[in-house]
Amino acid sequence: MPQGASPVSRLFFGRDDAEHDMADGLLGGVFLHTYAYREALSGRKSLIIGRKGAGKSAICRQLGAADGHPGIAVLITPDDTAGDEIRRFELQGVSGDTAKSLIWRYVFAVHAARHLCDHARAAHGWRARSSVKALRDFLEANDEAGEERLYDRLRRGARGLQSANLSLKAFGFEAGLGLNGASEGARASRQLEVLESGVAAAFHELGCTASHPPLLLLVDQIEQVWTMDPDSHALVTGLLLASKQVTSQYGGAARCTLFLRADIYDTLNFGDADKFHSDELRISWSREELARLALSRAAASLQVPELSPEHLWGEVFPAMVSGEEMPGYLFERALPRPRDVIQFLNACRDAADQRGSEYITEQDVHSATKQFSDWKLTDLAREYAVTHPFLSQLFLLFDNHGYVTMRPALASRFEPHRERLQQEFADYADGLTAQGVAEVLFSIGFLGVRRGHKVVYSHGSQMPPQPGEDEFHVHPCFRPALGGLGAVEMAGYSPNRISGGNHQRQIGQGRDVSLGVSRDVRLLDDVSRACERLLRQLMRAGLQDDIHNEVRAQLGHVLDDARRTREIMRGGITVDVTQHVLAASSFFGRLAMELGEQGMREEPITRRLEDEARALIRAAGGATGGGGGSDSSP
Ligand SMILES: Nc1ncnc2c1ncn2[C@@H]1O[C@H](COP(=O)(O)OP(=O)(O)O)[C@@H](O)[C@H]1O
Ligand SMILES: [Mg+2]
Repeated sequence: MPQGASPVSRLFFGRDDAEHDMADGLLGGVFLHTYAYREALSGRKSLIIGRKGAGKSAICRQLGAADGHPGIAVLITPDDTAGDEIRRFELQGVSGDTAKSLIWRYVFAVHAARHLCDHARAAHGWRARSSVKALRDFLEANDEAGEERLYDRLRRGARGLQSANLSLKAFGFEAGLGLNGASEGARASRQLEVLESGVAAAFHELGCTASHPPLLLLVDQIEQVWTMDPDSHALVTGLLLASKQVTSQYGGAARCTLFLRADIYDTLNFGDADKFHSDELRISWSREELARLALSRAAASLQVPELSPEHLWGEVFPAMVSGEEMPGYLFERALPRPRDVIQFLNACRDAADQRGSEYITEQDVHSATKQFSDWKLTDLAREYAVTHPFLSQLFLLFDNHGYVTMRPALASRFEPHRERLQQEFADYADGLTAQGVAEVLFSIGFLGVRRGHKVVYSHGSQMPPQPGEDEFHVHPCFRPALGGLGAVEMAGYSPNRISGGNHQRQIGQGRDVSLGVSRDVRLLDDVSRACERLLRQLMRAGLQDDIHNEVRAQLGHVLDDARRTREIMRGGITVDVTQHVLAASSFFGRLAMELGEQGMREEPITRRLEDEARALIRAAGGATGGGGGSDSSP
């Protein structure tokens, strides 16, 4: 071991996220070529799914590194402004999913076109190719030639697609493509087809597929722009659809790899979902792999390449903690993801360093355990802030209780808070029952359930707790943060007293809890969002001032009314929401008719009014399930 500073002061397990690790120059040296990485590298899997801290960005960054993907890789990470732009993007005549997929396809096509212009010369020599020249002309004509923020590219693409004025002269087409009268959606997809064929032609003329590895488009950090509204849902489904299109359109010369957080992917609910199963890969980590990760990071920071596990877990760390071997102690308490392991080990190291000690003692590990537990409880609430915003309040139910809770005790502990929570989180009220709460807490890995001789914690695919499975355990990771919880407390146990609430949700339905927005709330939101879409369409419509103002005022009334009704319902008053929605729908229909009579039958705003009217009728008739349909127009 090099002389000088003590091991503890040099020891460092790395940063919390791959982006910082990469910036520090740490990741390259210690990156572990896991199964997930190899599958992504080979292109066999293109949809990499994992929980927070599971290593999605690490794979993404490593693919983009010099010793990663052997071809060119382009990294696309939407920020808030870009996310807003995509969420707002819509086209009359096609569903939200389709509209979002078109804007993503535009972004991918422009990236591919820009790549081809640079790459033609560098990789395929000086001979001029007409297809590449066409791409260059297209980029120039549409101001896409320079280096740009994603947001600017999206704005331009959105405008071009919505108003059908992308310049396609480079490909021999007039703007508008002679499709006057077709829906916005039809015109936009026709424009994209032209652009994409132009890109495909260049790939083909250069012979990229045969001569070198494909262009790789990497999309990461969708969680930064994800919220619980239908437009976010469409943003992600649109991305999935667009990535498939890239692979099929460019014949192996380009492909797209997406990195998605598991909770986001699992809430998706769309028609083509089954077509993605063979592209999916869920990141999982074994203890052995995590131990290797810890060892290689310790070895790198201590500059002892041949550091042995015995040395790390016996001399730098104490061999035993609370009667357990150190690695076992660690993996019992950290969730099986690299970020958790890194944070736990850094916390141990910091505790020792603060005392000025050269080595980590059992006491240091104990204080790190508490610190780590506090972090993780907060992080868990944050991880699910969108899908389960009520979590931190549920955790309080376990404060200073034993870590084993029987179902009836859970129910009676929850009951006094039920009404308040259902009011405070009205959108999630359906899931806020004793059974629903148990399922959510299980699905996020906070509670485990006794199954036979074992306590099972969810790592994504386990069955939710079934009726008859009545013994829940708080995961060891969170116990210190909840007051130590040494002893088992079973005071509330009384299996005959409370049944545990509604048993309708059974096998396979665990995921629906996250969509537990009550029907009425969802319907009113549908109305509000229809109004918002109509108002935005109106902005682009170019109607005469007086008509414009009148329509805007009317839509404003509908919107206000929907919002007011929601407020009233929040106050606990029952409202006939179906009636409300049908009224809004028939109003849109009448407005469309009036505009039609004034000679505006073919205007996108008129058609959207009709589309929204129909969509609302459908929603009112059938909005009993989660997610789907409500956002789509025919
Ligand atoms: N295969 C790996 N080899 C080495 N370190 C990894 C690996 N995967 C993840 N890490 C590290 O784990 C931490 C969390 O990973 P990250 O990719 O940021 O998670 P995610 O993007 O899934 O939230 C980062 O410090 C990252 O460098
Ligand atoms: Mg990440």
